[in-house]
Amino acid sequence: TGRLIILGIETSCDETAAAVVVRDGDGRGEIRADVVLSQLDEHSVYGGVVPEIAARAHVEALDTLVQEALAKAGVGLRDIDAVAATAGPGLIGGLIVGLMTGKAIARAAAKPLYAINHLEGHALTARLTDNVAFPYLMLLVSGGHTQLVLVRGVGDYQRWGTTIDDALGEAFDKTAKLLGLPYPGGPAVERAAKSGNEKRFSFPRPLVGEARLDFSFSGLKTAVRQAAEATAPVSEQDIADICASFQRAIARTMDDRIGRGLARFNAEFPGLEEAPALVVAGGVAANQALRGALQMLCDRHGFRFIAPPHHLCTDNAAMIAWAGLERLAHGFPADDLSVSPRARWP
Ligand code: KG4
Ligand code: ZN
Repeated sequence: TGRLIILGIETSCDETAAAVVVRDGDGRGEIRADVVLSQLDEHSVYGGVVPEIAARAHVEALDTLVQEALAKAGVGLRDIDAVAATAGPGLIGGLIVGLMTGKAIARAAAKPLYAINHLEGHALTARLTDNVAFPYLMLLVSGGHTQLVLVRGVGDYQRWGTTIDDALGEAFDKTAKLLGLPYPGGPAVERAAKSGNEKRFSFPRPLVGEARLDFSFSGLKTAVRQAAEATAPVSEQDIADICASFQRAIARTMDDRIGRGLARFNAEFPGLEEAPALVVAGGVAANQALRGALQMLCDRHGFRFIAPPHHLCTDNAAMIAWAGLERLAHGFPADDLSVSPRARWP
């Protein structure tokens, strides 16, 4: 295939986003425009995402963002080869807005439509940023997902592990809330932890030592609550110590869980041409304590550790556009305009 160009749309949570991405004949990607409007301010007073507010905000922002992305890329609808829009999983109101907009544009411009699984967008981002070859391992850690996935090819994924209760980002958010820190909790916990003593509290390390590759974080939240109650009234130093100890427990837990995943990968794929790769995605991938732990783990196992830039780890439309381009380039058929959004789509 030659050079392909696509318009991408993402509306599955609280980010309204549009992007224009190009894929050259050698499979290399180039982001020509990538615009994101975060609704953070609108939700932060509620301490979380409010689905109805999110859906309405997508309606208000999306058409302007699409125009902005096309203008930035210097292309018109007639220049693009296809339209890609997130069809799930996520909040159904937002998905309806994005997918219907994508369908309307595809129909009006007579272009094929790709209805993209948001998780596939995260999974393939490392090929856009780093041209990583299949197969590789992907760790997705966001507010909604915690998954270790074997990426064998476009559309060819095997979930090796998932959380049996809270997502990792959720654990950060709930911990922050318990400690009276602002939403979203991840950055606030990381900031507080900087001046904390990580050895003061010994928090649980769920599922460590077990052969299965799943995760569990709800017990950690309970332990944080107990620590906060035991030290009440909590001082700023107590909060810092709890946050530092919390991050340490997570780093140790992930070292064990992901370490098992790397060992399994090496056993299943011996003698790859390139060194094997672990790629991360999702908002929690911004966390330096987690990154440090994963980097050391990868060094020990001979893996390349690939962390795309932060704005491509969190929700964005460039990854949706890229997933569409990969599907198009690998000969996957476009979706019919009757395709429905799916709140749940593993
Ligand atoms: O991928 P993302 O932006 O949105 C989705 O959930 O889809 O991830 C947001 C999550 C939130 O739970 C937030 O607290 C967490 O990522 N997060 C962090 C950090 N930055 C964001 N968690 C830990 N450390 C951070 N620096
Ligand atoms: Zn996401």
